[in-house]
Amino acid sequence: AVERTLSIIKPDAVAKNVIGQIESRFENAGLRLVAMKMVQLSREQAEGFYAEHKERPFFGDLVAFMTSGPVVVQVLEGENAVAQNRDLMGATNPKDAAAGTIRADFAQSIDENAVHGSDSATSAAREISYFFKEEELCDRIR
Ligand code: CMP
Repeated sequence: AVERTLSIIKPDAVAKNVIGQIESRFENAGLRLVAMKMVQLSREQAEGFYAEHKERPFFGDLVAFMTSGPVVVQVLEGENAVAQNRDLMGATNPKDAAAGTIRADFAQSIDENAVHGSDSATSAAREISYFFKEEELCDRIR
């Protein structure tokens, strides 16, 4: 089914100037961008976005990293978009990421891992509405 998923190009990848190379991976796979913005996240925004990880030992470092520079927040749409995006990203830890995936090619560590993608349709709905109003999602199928 056609789905939407939230994708974030993280501060490390923005600093490496590989936004376009990462977007090409999505486009070449047939995913369509239906919303996108570059933003500098506040601590409150990053903490709220990653609220499910609040008790994890890496939470403080994660929030510090995600607020260390601008990110690109975007919505991808396409057939099985949630799983497709996760396949394109590769494993969370770039050391475990399959060759040719975004994290294998652009990430340096589990903390600075280039991209985020929603892990389920349920989190996609929550994450998309965290950053975008319904009217900011563009209709690309026409
Ligand atoms: P992301 O998909 O953005 O979701 C939470 C992030 O926490 C994850 O990518 C990693 O960059 C980071 N992280 C750091 N340590 C861990 C860990 N041990 N397990 C999962 N995520 C981690």
